[in-house]
This record gives sequence, structure tokens and C-alpha cells, in this order.
Amino acid sequence: MPVLFNATVATMAEGGAPYGLIANGALALRGAAIEWVGPADQLPAQFSGDEHFDCGGRLITPGLIDCHTHIVHGGNRAHEFEMRLGGATYEEIARAGGGILSTVAETRLAKDAVLLADAARRVDALMAEGVTTLEIKSGYGLDAATEMKMLRIARVIGRTRPLSVVTSFLGAHAVPAEYKGRADAYLDEVCIPALEAAHAARFVDAVDGFCEAIAFSPAHIERLFLKAKALGLPVKLHAEQLSNSGGAALAARFAALSADHLEHLDHEGIDAMKAAGTVAVLLPGAAYTLRETTLPPVAKLRQAGVPMAVATDCNPGSSPLSSILTAMNMACTLFRLTPEEALAGATRNAARALGLADRGVIAAGKRADLCLWDASHPAELSYRIGFNPLSERIFGGAL
Ligand code: NIG
Ligand code: FE
Repeated sequence: MPVLFNATVATMAEGGAPYGLIANGALALRGAAIEWVGPADQLPAQFSGDEHFDCGGRLITPGLIDCHTHIVHGGNRAHEFEMRLGGATYEEIARAGGGILSTVAETRLAKDAVLLADAARRVDALMAEGVTTLEIKSGYGLDAATEMKMLRIARVIGRTRPLSVVTSFLGAHAVPAEYKGRADAYLDEVCIPALEAAHAARFVDAVDGFCEAIAFSPAHIERLFLKAKALGLPVKLHAEQLSNSGGAALAARFAALSADHLEHLDHEGIDAMKAAGTVAVLLPGAAYTLRETTLPPVAKLRQAGVPMAVATDCNPGSSPLSSILTAMNMACTLFRLTPEEALAGATRNAARALGLADRGVIAAGKRADLCLWDASHPAELSYRIGFNPLSERIFGGAL
């Protein structure tokens, strides 16, 4: 059983030193799990005969977790980027049938192999930065067959690459053109039956929705969440991104794992999230791309003790970002998170946002998903822009 020594270990465990830092640390792994972690001079004698790996003073953190992505999607929306630079807004483009619906058209047409190959390039970019757990949403199908196709491809990625993939069914992402103005009929005739079918195929780990004036109302989302509950699936929600519609409080009522975006979150939403233990997933790549001037209420979330996660939101429209380290940097510079909060946001709190209790911190009994960095302090991970200091990535105990 391998022992890693001569490392600075940022365990990200709560309650002790900042970052859970151990200056001269050691780790003993057994199979896919961490058996022991602590100061090197306290390594129990039972491990002394094991194979030792000198980390050369490198930094070790938990493997990074990107807990909100739409990484499987057809095509791209560079032309909408140009339109926005010419003055059009994200909402105007969406209302004119572009936005999410233009990606829906491309995703419906795309062959499985193309969707997979395109997504794999973005997944590989995240893995190269130390991502070991990745959430992937559906939501660019808006018909049963294409929602299934997206989720099937997400499962294929999880089976064929050394990372864990967690899926979210996002059939309530937009109302497709063929149901324009008939959101309830879409939910009854397409979205909910597609959820049932995808769940029966074991493709769904959680249910997500987009609660917004240009998408679904709280009443619609409530109907979807009642179905999720009946199926025994946890929920999460895109909430208060462009306006406040009370989505976060609704999600909290359903004990949601997370409420995401939250630029327009109010104090009622914050209190409800705190009471329910719902994680605030912050997506600075979307705020940056849409040049949002209203920022999520980070100081109030911090004060209330709502755990904050940070994710890429990797998608072709509002956040064409395939770098978790850049998301962490943006969370600090745009949203004023501390580098410690940003790293907790991509480890401990991201695990919580996915309902995964077996990862996100370095502690005995947790999965051995680890990153070795050519860095001496964990603040360096959020500080540089466009630079990748990853040295090794360990997934389930395997280099
Ligand atoms: O998380 N907010 C809704 N959904 C995505 C955007 C998807 C798109 O524009 O294609 C988001 O920002
Ligand atoms: Fe999103």
C-alpha cells in the first residue's frame, strides 16, 4: 500500500488550520481509499515497510470536483457571442429562438460519436487540471430520445475515463419550439415521461430545472420536483440567475442538494437554503460571459453559513468555460471569494452539492482522489490565470 510523503497537504477538512493544511504531511493509501493522513513524523510504524513516494515538497489537495456542467452539447454558439458583442442581450437572443434552443437543434441532429468526441475534449481539459468528479446535465434534447442520448453519453464518459460522472436530468431547461407557450403540456407529455424513462434506464442521479421568466415558473418546477420526489431522486435548481422568482426557496423546500447561479438571491432564499442545508453553487463563468453587474450575495451567504461551491457551468451559451482553475480565479476576482473558499468550492462543498459524502476532503476512509501540484501554497491555485500547475492526478488510488 503506497505512502506519499514530503508533501504539503491541504486536506480541506473543516474546523482546523486554514485549508486543513499539514506542512510536512504524509498519506497512506489502501486500494481506492485513504487509510491514513497526518504529519509525516506521526506516520504509524505499520506503514514503514510500504512503498514510499517522495512528493518533493509538492502540494496535495483533494481531487477537484466540477459540480455543474452542460459539457455534452452539439455545436457551439460563437455567432451569439458576436451578437452579444453587437449589443443583443442573452434574453433577447433566447426569446428570438436562439440561445438554448439553437443548441437543442444541433444536439438533436448530432450523432452520438460526434457528441461524445466533442464533449471528451472538454472533459480531458478539466481532467488535465485535476478534476476527478464531474457533473453532467442533459437539457439540450427537450425530447425523450435526445435527453436519453445526452445522459447515455454522460454515462459512457464516466465508464471510459478515469473520473466519476454524476448526471442530472435537465428536461426542464427550456420549452421547445413545438410546445411554445404550452409549458404545462410539455411537462406532462414530454419532460416527465422522459424523466421516468431515463430513471428506469438508471441514467439519472438528480433532477435539475431552470426557474426563470424565459424558462419555467416556480409552479412548473414544483410539479417536476414532486415527480422527482416520487421517484426518490434528489433535486437541484438553476435559480435567480437573471431575476428573482423565488426558485431558491422552492428548491430548499424540497431539500435540494444545491441552488445554482443566485445572482438575484434575496434574504428569504438565503434563510431557506441555510435551513435546508442547500449548497449555493456559484458560476462566475456565466456572470463573466454575460457581463452580469448584479453579483451573487456572497458576503450574506458567508455570514449565514450557507456552503458555497464553485463550478464551470461549461455550456455553449452563457459559459463556454472548460477550466475549473479559471472558475476558481473568477470566483475570487469577480465574486470576492477567498482562495480558501474557492478551493473548498471545488472540493468539499462541490462534493456536498452532489450528495457525495465519500470525497471532497482528504481524510481516512475517503476516496483516494488526489491532486499533486507544483505549488507550495493552495492560494496559488486560484491566483494564476491560464496556467496549470498540476503534476499528478490520482483517481481512486491509481496514478
Ligand atoms: O447554466 N441558465 C440556464 N442554463 C445554462 C445556459 C445554457 C445555455 O445558454 O445554453 C446556464 O447558464
Ligand atoms: Fe447551468
